[in-house]
Amino acid sequence: MAGLDLFIDLTAPNGRQWKQPTGLFINNEFVKSSSGQTIASIDPATTREIASVYAASAEDVDTAVQAAKTALKDPSWKQLPATDRGILMGRLAELLEKNRELFATIDAWDNGKPYHVAYEEDLTEAITTFRYYSGWADKTFGQTISTTPQKLAYTIRQPIGVVGQIIPWNYPLSMAAWKLGPALACGNTVVIKAAEQTPLSILVLGNMIKEAGFPEGVVNIINGYGREAGAALVQHPLVDKVAFTGSTATAREIMKMAAVSLKNITLETGGKSPLLVFNDSDLEQAVKWSHMGIMSNKGEICTATSRILVQKDIYDTFVENFKSTIQATSKIGNQWDESTYQGPQVTRAQYDRVLSYIQLGISEGATVVSGGGPYPPNSNGESGYFVSPTVFTNVTDSMRIYREEIFGPVVVIVPFETEEEAIERANDTTYGLGAAVFTKDLERAHRVAAEIESGMVWINSSQDCDPRVPFGGVKQSGIGRELGEAGLEAYTQVKAVHVNMGSRL
Ligand code: NAI
Ligand code: MG
Repeated sequence: MAGLDLFIDLTAPNGRQWKQPTGLFINNEFVKSSSGQTIASIDPATTREIASVYAASAEDVDTAVQAAKTALKDPSWKQLPATDRGILMGRLAELLEKNRELFATIDAWDNGKPYHVAYEEDLTEAITTFRYYSGWADKTFGQTISTTPQKLAYTIRQPIGVVGQIIPWNYPLSMAAWKLGPALACGNTVVIKAAEQTPLSILVLGNMIKEAGFPEGVVNIINGYGREAGAALVQHPLVDKVAFTGSTATAREIMKMAAVSLKNITLETGGKSPLLVFNDSDLEQAVKWSHMGIMSNKGEICTATSRILVQKDIYDTFVENFKSTIQATSKIGNQWDESTYQGPQVTRAQYDRVLSYIQLGISEGATVVSGGGPYPPNSNGESGYFVSPTVFTNVTDSMRIYREEIFGPVVVIVPFETEEEAIERANDTTYGLGAAVFTKDLERAHRVAAEIESGMVWINSSQDCDPRVPFGGVKQSGIGRELGEAGLEAYTQVKAVHVNMGSRL
C-alpha cells in the first residue's frame, strides 16, 4: 500500500502555497497511520476536496499516548524550569504570528470562514492565548498552611499528567490554542485530536511546535474519526484527563467513557444563548450586536445568541431593523472575497442539518421574515454549502427551533413584557453557556446578569471573548472553565504535604 505522501504541495485559491503535512504528529515527527485510513478535507465553498490526511486508529492513539507518557517523565520536560516552559510557548506564539497569513488561509479554506476574519479574529485569538498562558507558566504555586505548633502543611500544584484533548471544527486553530495553552503552561503532556472536518491547520502547528523547541512527545497531534480515534483517546488507561469541546450529545458519551476510570474531565458543549433587549436600550447597538451574535461565523458558534427576546413595545421596530441589518451586512460569498461576511456552512452534514431545522420551523408554524432556505434559493448545495441568514417570528417556547441548538445563521426573535418574564424565559432551557442583556439601566443590567443561568453574560454586547477571562457553561453547556486563571484549574492538581517538625505526638 503506497498511501499518501507525508508532505504534499498545496496552493489555495488566494495563491498561497505551502507544504502540508498529512501524517500523525507523534514524538515531533509525522508518521503514517497504521491502518492507512485517511480523512478528506473539503472546501465547503466549492465542495471540492482540498487534501486527504491520515486518520489515527486505536493503535495509533496508543502510540501517541505512550509518547506523551514517556515525555511526561523525561527530564527535558519534567525538569524544565517553568520559566523556560513559558519561553517555549512564547516562541510558539511568535511562530504563529510570523505565519499568520498561512494559518488564516488554511482555516478559511478548510472551514469556509472568510480569510479576513480568520486572519484578524481566529489568529489573534490563537496567538494571544499562547502568549497569555506563556506568562502563567512560572506563576502557579502552592500555599503553606500552619496547622499546629509542631506541624505544618504545604501544597504543590502539579500537572495532571497525560491530557487527551478533543476539539471541534468551528475555530480549528484557536480551539487548539485554548486547549494547548493552559495544559502546557501547567507542565502536562498532550495528545490532541482535531475535528475530521478541519484537519489541516493543526498539522502545520505541529511543525511549529517542533521548531519552537518543545521536547519530543510533549505535544502529539492526531487526526481521526470521533467514534474511533476520539473514543480510543478518552478510554485510554494512560490518559489522566480529557478536555472536550463539541456537542452535548458527544460530551455525554465522553462522560460515560471517562466514568470507567473516573477520569478528570472538562466539557464545553452546546448552547441556545438568550439575548434580552429592554425597551430602554440603544436600539441601534442592540440590533448591531444581536446580528453579529448569531450571524457571524455563519452561526457556527457555541455561544451564538440564537434566541433574541425583545420587549414588546420595541419588538416590531427591532425586527424591521434586524432585517435591514441582514440586508446591509450579511453578504454571502466565498472565503477569499474581502466583502464576504458569511461563508458556507462547514460541511454537507451541517448544511443539511441547518436547512432541516429551517424546514422544521416552517412546519411548526413559525413565520420566516428573512431568508428561509439555501443560498441562492434554488440551490441544493452542490456548488457550495451556503444558507440564507434566516429570521423566525411567531415562535412559541415549545417549538424545537426555539429550544434546540441549530448551529447556523438562524435566529428566533420573540417578544416579552416584563423583566421577570424575560429572565424566566431566558432560563427555560437545558443549556447555559452565554447570555446578553441590552439596557441603559445600570441596576437592571447587573440584576439580570446575576439572575441568568449561564457561564458568561454580555452587557450591551455579544460574543466578547478574551484569553484573560474564564469561559464555560452551566447546566448542559459544560463542566469546568477554560481561559483565564480559572483555566489553569483544569490542568493542575493540588498535592498536600504534611510536615511533622516535632517529636511529641
Ligand atoms: P461532535 O461533538 O460529534 O464533534 C466534536 C469533536 O468530538 C470532534 O473532534 C469529533 O471527532 C469528536 N467526537 C465525536 N464523537 C466522539 C466520540 N464518541 N468519542 C470521542 N470523540 C468524539 O460534533 P459534530 O458532529 O461535529 O457537530 C454536531 C453538532 O454539535 C453541531 O451541529 C453543533 O450543534 C454542535 N457543536 C458544538 C460545538 C461547540 O463549539 N460547542 C462545536 C462543534 C459542534
Ligand atoms: Mg473542510
